[in-house]
Amino acid sequence: MSFAQKLIRWQRAHGRHDLPWQGTRDPYRIWLSEVMLQQTQVAAVVPYYERFLQRYPSVAALAAASEDDVLRLWSGLGYYARGRNLHKAARLIREHGFPRTAERIGELPGVGRSTAAAIAVFAFGERAAILDGNAKRVIARRFGTEEDLWRLAERLLPVTNIEAYTQALMDLGATLCTRTPQCGSCPVRAKCVARKTGRTAELPAPKAKRPLPQKMVTWFVYRAGDAVLLERRPAPGIWGGLWCFPERAMMRAVRGRALPPMEHGFTHFRLRIQPVLHEMTRTARGVWLQVDEAITAAVPTPVKKLLQDLKRTSTARA
Ligand code: ADE
Repeated sequence: MSFAQKLIRWQRAHGRHDLPWQGTRDPYRIWLSEVMLQQTQVAAVVPYYERFLQRYPSVAALAAASEDDVLRLWSGLGYYARGRNLHKAARLIREHGFPRTAERIGELPGVGRSTAAAIAVFAFGERAAILDGNAKRVIARRFGTEEDLWRLAERLLPVTNIEAYTQALMDLGATLCTRTPQCGSCPVRAKCVARKTGRTAELPAPKAKRPLPQKMVTWFVYRAGDAVLLERRPAPGIWGGLWCFPERAMMRAVRGRALPPMEHGFTHFRLRIQPVLHEMTRTARGVWLQVDEAITAAVPTPVKKLLQDLKRTSTARA
C-alpha cells in the first residue's frame, strides 16, 4: 500500500472528523479556518472561528465590516497581520470572486503556498500539496530527508481522496508525529526512516534557537475615573491597528505609580512592559474609553490583561 493510501486509511479510523470547518465546501469558511490555524492550535481557534462566522457569515459581510471591528473580534488570537490581511482579502474577493485554484488563492494577502493548497483541496478538491509544520514533520521523518520537500510532497499526492489525505497529514502531525512522537500507533512506522535510524529528534532539524532579544518599554496608563487613554498603533508594525497604552522606550525615573511588569513573547523578540499609572482628575486630549468598553475593543492580550487588572482594582476602590 502506498504512503498516501496508508494515511487515508488511518484518517478514516483515527483522524479528526468533527472540527467545525469540516463538512463544508464553502471556500469562505475554509479560508477563514486555514488562516486562523496558521500559528494557532485547533483548540484556541474553535471559539474564534464560531464567533467570526456568527458575526460575518459571508465574504460580503466581512468585506463590509470596518478593519477595527475585524481586529476587535480577532483580539487575543495574535499575529494581527492575519486579521488585517483577511479583511483586505475579503474586499478583493468581493470585487473579483473567490479564486478557484491553489495558484490564484495564493495571491490573496496572508495566504502562503501551503494555506492556498489546503483551501484548494478542501473547497475544490484540487490535487495540491500542503507543507505546513505538521506535514513537514511527517514527510521529513518518513522519508528521512529535508531536501526538496515540496517536490516530494507533490509526488506523494494520491489520485483520489485528496481531502482525506491532506487532513491525514495535518492530523498525524498534530496527534502522533509530534516533537516527541508516538510511533507505536503510526500507520507508516514500518517504513519510517527517522524511526528506524533513531533520528526523530533531528528530523526535521530543530530551528537554531538563538536567545530572543528583549525590548523594554514603558506604558503610560492615564486614568481619569473609570476612563483610560488609548492610542491606535500604526500599521505596519507590531499590533498595527490595535489600541494600546501610549508607549515609550523604557525610561528610568518616571512619575506615577509603577504597576507589576508584564512580559509578552513575539516570534522575534520578547517584550518587557513596565506600566506606570497616572491618576488624572479629568480627561485630556486623545481617545478616552471606559475600561469596560476598552476590554472589548481591538486590543492585544497584554493590554486586555492590564485593563482587567485596572477594572478589578477600581471595583475594589468603589
Ligand atoms: N491545521 C491547519 N489546517 C488545519 C485543518 N484544516 N484541520 C486541522 N488542523 C489544521
